[in-house]
Amino acid sequence: MNRKDGHLKVTGAALYATDHQREGQAYACAAHSEIASGELLAVDATATLALPGVLTVLHALDAPKLFRCPESLNVGERRPPFEDNRIYYAGQILALVVAESFEVARHGAQLLELKYKEDEQVSLDFERDLREGKIEQTDASSRGQAAEAFDRGHARIDATYETPVGIHCAMELHGAVAWWEEERLVVEDSTQWVVGQSKALANTFGLPESDVEVRSRFVGGGFGGKLFLWSPSILAAEASRVVGRPVQFSLDRRGQFTSAGHRPRTRQRLRLAADEDGHLVSLRHEAVNQTSQVDQYEESCPDVSASLYQCPNVSISQGVVRSHVGTPTPMRGPGETPGLWALESALDELAVELKIDPLELRLRNVAQRDEAKDLPWSINLHERCLREAAARFGWSQRNPEVGSMREGSEVIGWGIASTSWAAMRSSATVTVDLLQSGKARISCATQDIGTGTYTVFAQMVKELTGLPFDSIEVRIGNSRLPTGPISGGSMVTATVVPAIAEATEKAIDALLDLAVAEDGPFAGSDKKSLRMVGGKLCSRSGGASRSIGEVLESKRLSFVSGKGEASPGEEQERYSFRSFGAHCAEVRWDAGLGRLRVSRVTSVIDSGRIINLDTASNQVYGAIVMGVGMALLEESVYDKRTGRPVTDNLADYLVPVMTDCPEIDLSLLNVPDPHIGKLGARGIGEVGLTGVAPAIGNAVYHATGKRIRTLPIRMEDLMG
Ligand code: MOS
Repeated sequence: MNRKDGHLKVTGAALYATDHQREGQAYACAAHSEIASGELLAVDATATLALPGVLTVLHALDAPKLFRCPESLNVGERRPPFEDNRIYYAGQILALVVAESFEVARHGAQLLELKYKEDEQVSLDFERDLREGKIEQTDASSRGQAAEAFDRGHARIDATYETPVGIHCAMELHGAVAWWEEERLVVEDSTQWVVGQSKALANTFGLPESDVEVRSRFVGGGFGGKLFLWSPSILAAEASRVVGRPVQFSLDRRGQFTSAGHRPRTRQRLRLAADEDGHLVSLRHEAVNQTSQVDQYEESCPDVSASLYQCPNVSISQGVVRSHVGTPTPMRGPGETPGLWALESALDELAVELKIDPLELRLRNVAQRDEAKDLPWSINLHERCLREAAARFGWSQRNPEVGSMREGSEVIGWGIASTSWAAMRSSATVTVDLLQSGKARISCATQDIGTGTYTVFAQMVKELTGLPFDSIEVRIGNSRLPTGPISGGSMVTATVVPAIAEATEKAIDALLDLAVAEDGPFAGSDKKSLRMVGGKLCSRSGGASRSIGEVLESKRLSFVSGKGEASPGEEQERYSFRSFGAHCAEVRWDAGLGRLRVSRVTSVIDSGRIINLDTASNQVYGAIVMGVGMALLEESVYDKRTGRPVTDNLADYLVPVMTDCPEIDLSLLNVPDPHIGKLGARGIGEVGLTGVAPAIGNAVYHATGKRIRTLPIRMEDLMG
C-alpha cells in the first residue's frame, strides 16, 4: 500500500504550515538575546520603525500580556514570550518585528538595538556544576540491596557515560501562519499535537478552547521537537492580533538551536555486577541532565534500566542541573535513547570483564517479567530478536579478540545492543462516515508527522469495508475534529486503530439498518445475514448485493456515521507493555586515514502487528540513520562565555548524509501483541533508535580496543 500522502508530497502539492498564504498576510521576524543571563533594559526601535513596510515592533518591555498554561498541560516553555524583561538563555526571543514582507521584517529585526544588563553569575559549565554538586534530585527508586550486592559481585563495572545536547533538525522549521476571525484564532501550524496546541493557545490567550483552531495537515519532521507549544505559534497569533492581519512567523535555523527545545546533555554513572555465570546481581543507574532556569525537564535515562533485564538488586536515580540554556524537550526515544547508550555500553564492558560473548550475556539476563512494575509482559520477544539479529548478521563468525578482524587497511568491529521502548496507548475518538458517493471518510484530531498515519488509517477502513484505498478520505491534522492523540511516544497507531475499527463497524451497522428498512433486495432481512464485502452489502449466502450509494440514495441521505472510542483498559493493570529488539552493527576503522564508518546494521524488532510494512520499515531505517548521527556526528556545542551554540546551523551541526548510511538489514517480527488492544499493533517510531548508538560504540571497541563513553565518537578519540 503506497503512502496516502506520497503523491502530494513528491509533487509539492502538500502545504506545510508556512506555505499557507492568506490575503493581506504580514511577516514577523524575531530578535534573540545575545546574552545568557540578565535583563533587557531598553529597546531602541527608531531605525526599525523608520523602515518602509515595518508595521510594528513587539518586545518584552512593551507587549500585551500573555498567560501561562496550567502545570497539567505540557508546553515547551512554561514562561510565555515577553512575560517580563528577564533573560534566561542566549537566543531567548526578546522582540518581534512585523512587516509587509519577510525581507523587511528581517532587516528591521537586525536594526533593533537591545540594551542589556548582564548578570555576573551565569551557569553554563555543566562539569563545574556537577563538581560543585548543584544537582536537584528529582526521582529515585530501588529494589533489593544494590550496594551490598555490588560489593559481592564476581565481575564489576563502574563507569560514567555522557551524551551531548542533540537538536531535532527537522527539515521544516517551527513556524505558523495565524489569523483571527472575529474572536476566534486560527493557526496553520507545524505540530505533533493539534489538540494540545489548541488547548495551550487557548490558555495563552485566555480564550475558550472552542475558539481556537489548530491545523497541521503535514509536518516536515518533528521527532519530539513539535510535541508541545513553542513561541512561534504564540508570536504569530499575538502579532496577528496586534496588526489585525494574518501573520506568518517562523524561527530561522539558528533559532532552532536555542529556542525550540533540544535533547539535554546527560551524565550517567552505571554500576553493574554479575556472578560467574554472567547473571546480573546489581544494577545502579544514576543520571543527571541539564535543564533550563525556568523549566524542570527530566530526561529519564535510568527508567529503562529498571526493567529491560532481570536483576534482583536495582537502584536508579535522576537529577537535574539548572543552566542558562533554553528548555529541553523530548527528542525521539527520550530517556531510553541516552539511557541505553549508558546501559548497553556498560553491559558490553561487563561482557569483556566476564569473558562472555556480549550476545550471550544479554540472553542470560532477558527479563522474564517486568520486575520494576512487578507485572508479566504482554509479550516479550527480546530473546528471539537477539537470536535472529545475531543469526542474520553472522555473529557466530565474530572473533572476540579486539582488532582481530581486518580487511585491507580497515579494522572491522562488530557490536550488539538491545533496543527497547515502552508501548503506550492513550484515548481517541473517531468517526467514520460512509458517503452516498460510495466513498468513506475518517475523522480524528491526530496528525501525520511523516510516519504514515494517513496510510495506516485508510488501510484499516479498506480492510473492514473492502472499499478501494483511494476512495477513503482521511481527515486529520485539525484540532476541531473528534479528539485524538499526540503523535508522541510512538502511540498513534495503537491508540487510534481500535477506535477506527469500532467506528467502521458501527457505520456498517447503521447502513445495514437502512438496508433492511428500505424497499430493496434486503427489505425485512435479518441484519445478521448480511455483511459488507468489496464495499457492498451482500447476503452471507450470496446472491443480491447493494452498494452504499444505492442504500443512501433510496433514503435521500448523504452519509451514515459510526463513532468509535478507544481507551486503554484494565489490561494496563495486568500487563506491562514494551517493545524489544536488537541491533548488530559493523564498523570499519581506517587508522591511516582516520576514517570511521558504520558499514552495516542488522536490526530485528518486535513491535506487535505491523499494519504497513513500508511505512513501519521506513521508520526504522530513519531511526538507524539517526542513531549513526548520534553515535558519530551530532553535538550542539555551547560557547561557555556567551552561552550561544557555536554549531547553530546544518553545516556545523553534523547530521548523517547518504554516504554515512550503512547497509541496513531489517526484520520486523510482526507478531500481534495479545493484550494491547484490537489488532495487537504497538508503536514503531522510537524503538528503532534507542539501541543503535551503543551497538556502534560496542563495535568501535571491538575494532579498536578504545572504550569511548562520551558521544559522539570522534576520529581523534581513536587515534594514537
Ligand atoms: Mo517523540 S520524542 O515522542 O516525538
